[in-house]
Formats: sequence, C-alpha cells, structure tokens
Amino acid sequence: MTASSIYPVTWQHDRVLLIDQTRLPGEFHHIQIANYHQMAEAIKTMIVRGAPAIGVAAAYGVYLGARDIYTEEVGEFLPLLENVAEELRHTRPTAVNLFWAIREMLKTAYGSGDNVATIKQQLLMTAQAIQEQDLYTCQQIGDRGLEVLPSSPDKLNILTHCNAGALATAGYGTALGVIRSAWTAGRLERVYADETRPRLQGAKLTAWECVQEKIPVTVITDNMAAHCMQKKMIHAVVVGADRIAANGDAANKIGTYGLAVIAKMHQVPFFVAAPLSTVDFDLQDGTQIPIEERDPIEIYQIGETRLCPEGVDFYNPAFDVTPNSLITAIITEKGAVKPTQLISLQ
Ligand code: MRU
Repeated sequence: MTASSIYPVTWQHDRVLLIDQTRLPGEFHHIQIANYHQMAEAIKTMIVRGAPAIGVAAAYGVYLGARDIYTEEVGEFLPLLENVAEELRHTRPTAVNLFWAIREMLKTAYGSGDNVATIKQQLLMTAQAIQEQDLYTCQQIGDRGLEVLPSSPDKLNILTHCNAGALATAGYGTALGVIRSAWTAGRLERVYADETRPRLQGAKLTAWECVQEKIPVTVITDNMAAHCMQKKMIHAVVVGADRIAANGDAANKIGTYGLAVIAKMHQVPFFVAAPLSTVDFDLQDGTQIPIEERDPIEIYQIGETRLCPEGVDFYNPAFDVTPNSLITAIITEKGAVKPTQLISLQ
C-alpha cells in the first residue's frame, strides 16, 4: 500500500508549509507558517482543516511557539508555553485531535527535563512523530476498512461526505483512506462525493484528490443522496469523524447525520473511519460534544455573490452528531468495531 502524494503539512527549513485548502481546486499553493500566531490563524480560517491534519498543524504550532520563547529557565519557559497552547486551543472547538495533539506536546515539554534547548528539540521530534504516526495509522484504517466493506458486488460504489482524505490528515485519509485502499485492491467502482454545503469540501477537495489519483468520482449535491440510495446506486457510505464519544456517537461535518438516517432507511451500511485519537473517551455520549458555529457568510455568500436577501437570520453549525444506532461500524487502526464496543479499544 502506498501513501498518497498529497501532504497538507510539511516541515521545511524551520518553517511549516501548508497547502492552502481555501484555494483548491483552482490553485495549488503553499503558505509559509513562521510562528504560532500564523498557525492559529491558518487553523481558524481553514487553510488547514480536517481533524487529524489540524492535530498535526497544532503540534507544529506548539513547537514554533516553543522555539520563539527566549529563556533558559524551565520555570519561565513552561508557563509561556502554556500560553502558546491556549491560543492554539482557541481555534476550532469540535475536532478533538487538536486538543489531543496539544496535550501530547505539553506532556513532552513537562517530561523532557530542565534544559530548555533539549525540551525544544524533543518538541520538534514529537510533532514529527505525530505526523508520521498519522500517516501509518490511516494506512491501517484503510486495511481494516477493506475487511468490513460489503462483499458484494465485487466493485462498490461508495458515498462519502466532506473531505476525510489526504488533505484532512497527514497524507492518506480516513474515510478516503478506506476508499483509496478499496481502489488499490480493485474493490471500488466509483466514489460518490457529496458536495457538502456550505463550504463544499466534497465538491472542491474530495473531488480534487480523486482526480489527482485517477479514482473515478461523481459529485452530487447533498440533497441527491437519498435519491441515489433509492435507485440502489450506493453500496456503502464511509465518512470521517471530528470527535467520537465513548458510546460511539460520532460528530462529523454537518449533513452526516442526515446521510446516516437515509442510509438506515435504505439498508446501506454506514461506516465511520477515524483514528483512536479522534475518540474522546471522557465524553459519555454525543450530546457532550461541542459543536462549532461558523460565520453565516458561509451560507449566504458564494464568492462575491450574496445569495440571500438582507433581513434574514442564519444558523451555521459546522458539525452534527450521528447517534451510534445508525452506525454499522467504526473503523479504527486497531480494527472495525460496533460503536458500543469502542470502549474495548481504549
Ligand atoms: O470543517 P472541516 O473541513 O475541518 O471538517 C472536516 C470533517 O468533518 C472531516 O470529515 C473530519 O475532520 C474527518 S477528517 C479525516
């Protein structure tokens, strides 16, 4: 199995390079991130997005912040590093990988002795390890996913929502990783990509990734999925997740819950693919997952064009929670399990 050739986060010459995902598919362009304030802004504005990719970016953000703290005293260094972590935490609230990666970085800082230079060195190594580990983990998720996809027909049409691909991870993908593995194994006929209003990650990013890798892809608008299932055009749904509660309730891009409801109605298996770092074992169920609300401009404007009249109100939740009862299995790097058995993988 090979990784994709798409790496959203690259460490190079003491800088982070991010693929600017707000400009795809029109322009493939890297942005240089030189300090942690710039990293926090890039996460907020979704230059880098997708739960595992945000985690990797935040880890490098912590390192950039650490690098620029000029003191030799650990007692002064650590509180300043906590400020860096706090700014990075206040970027996007739903994807738990962000908080997980920052926690891993702080663990490294507190566990690396009392020499500031050594701590900084260890922090860079931890950020790089988080990135490498995600690549490997996603490849394992791809393998595990292959084992649970429906055995017939021989070649499957798989529907996905948003972008849970290389762009959303270190470079392979969770849901799109399973799809990529199915393609490599000759088990995929075609991907159906929901366009994913309001930010169109499916139409822009998933479609772009598939084109790069010559995977056949059909883009549909979100409201066409029920019709496609009724017409028996879809054999399985595979989506990613931003945070999964201990009972298997899973938060993912807004629209995922509706998709799960119609999949159940049409007896189409519905899989959530995610690394265990996306599971928040501290939360009993999905009602406790914080849901990000974003600027309504994402709904009422496309490009420079305003779609809606002045004088209306908007509600723009970025994620929704799919109850465990609608999920066939959660595919992790340690295997695919029923949502209620997730706890056994802790
Ligand atoms: O708002 P986004 O684009 O960051 O949302 C991304 C998703 O919802 C993905 O499906 C999820 O993060 C899984 S990425 C492997």
